[in-house]
Amino acid sequence: MNSQPKPQILFARDEIATCVSRLSIELKRDYQGKNPLLVGVLKGSFVFMADLIRSFDFPVEVDFIKISSYGRGKETSGKVRVVGGLTASVKGREVVIVEDVVDTGLTTSFLIDYLKKRQPASVRLCALTDKPSRRQVPVTIDYLGFTVPDKFLVGYGIDWDEKFRNLPYIGYLEE
Ligand code: IMP
Ligand code: MG
Repeated sequence: MNSQPKPQILFARDEIATCVSRLSIELKRDYQGKNPLLVGVLKGSFVFMADLIRSFDFPVEVDFIKISSYGRGKETSGKVRVVGGLTASVKGREVVIVEDVVDTGLTTSFLIDYLKKRQPASVRLCALTDKPSRRQVPVTIDYLGFTVPDKFLVGYGIDWDEKFRNLPYIGYLEE
């Protein structure tokens, strides 16, 4: 059971903690008293979301949406669809999308459009990592953790074929 490849470390646990605390300070500054709705993109955002909101000292709501774009491989299929919907109403809310990786941008641009159709007061994007070299459609990231090279990331919630989500660091798999 121990035959999976060992990822190369890109960001260690303490670097992630520093980064996430910076992002939560930025969000606190902008959303204090606004009862924001944070929408995590499953499954990759669940660890990030959990760390991000725990220093909030004001009301915040959390929901999750499941989107399918990748198959079991490392490349996007290019077709984005919602496979698990929101339970909260978005209308009139201050919405922040919480995403693990912005890669081609197809998922997040689809999701921003999907949410905007539901008449929120605002929609912004908070992404743990950004791979700008891979972008196919433009996406504005309002709150960004790390800019990363064109590597396949794993760890801290991010998977390859459902594995490695449990790693406390962000690493990448060698080709
Ligand atoms: P995009 O639609 O190409 O921007 O890809 C977005 C989604 O693909 C992200 O939410 C991730 O779940 C997944 N993804 C993109 N790059 C990686 C990676 O390096 N490792 C694991 N998942 C990734
Ligand atoms: Mg994702």
